Amino acid sequence: LPLLAAIALLSYGIGSVPFGLLLAQFGGAGDIRRIGSGNIGATNVLRTGRRGLAAATLLLDGAKGAFAVACGFILSPFHTEQAMAVAAIFAVLGHCFPVWLKFHGGKGVATGLGAALALDWRVGLACCAIWLAVARLTRISSAGALSAFVALPVLLTLLNGGDPGAPIPLAGLLIAVLALARHHGNIRRLLSGAEPRIGRKTP
Ligand code: G3P
Repeated sequence: LPLLAAIALLSYGIGSVPFGLLLAQFGGAGDIRRIGSGNIGATNVLRTGRRGLAAATLLLDGAKGAFAVACGFILSPFHTEQAMAVAAIFAVLGHCFPVWLKFHGGKGVATGLGAALALDWRVGLACCAIWLAVARLTRISSAGALSAFVALPVLLTLLNGGDPGAPIPLAGLLIAVLALARHHGNIRRLLSGAEPRIGRKTP
């Protein structure tokens, strides 16, 4: 148990590095929290018109999710699945509620997808594909994210023994609930038709 607690803390720390905020700031795009949706994720960095910074945000936010799960895997010779599940959940928690930003973080999409890739690459790839396909079709990033995170726990369960209570499917469920909850504003805007399309530059 102390090992799992240490993995949780480490993963929270890894997840809490706000790459979108840092890249936008040091890349000269300003404080991302004052632009567009105010979110610190890649979608909002894209609204500054800086595609390179947005791509780097997506990759680094994804990498921290995968890295945390890899740390869980390496540090835990026993109960490896529990350790990976805890790492995935806490990396996304760190991204969504970073202590450095007074717990005002992101929505967990890139970090959750990165963690999913490391938990089960087949499911991770499928969720990335769903996210891309729906975002491309609708031109709405959050629509892609919501679809991918509805699929995540279902696919993790189906491809990992069928028991939704096993550590890895359960991690998928908790991450999905967290990501969907973080999108409550987006869901409201989607329902009212006010959700902006991808890449629309906002002052
Ligand atoms: O990935 C986050 C995306 O789903 C929504 O971001 O900035 O449009 O709220 P944003």
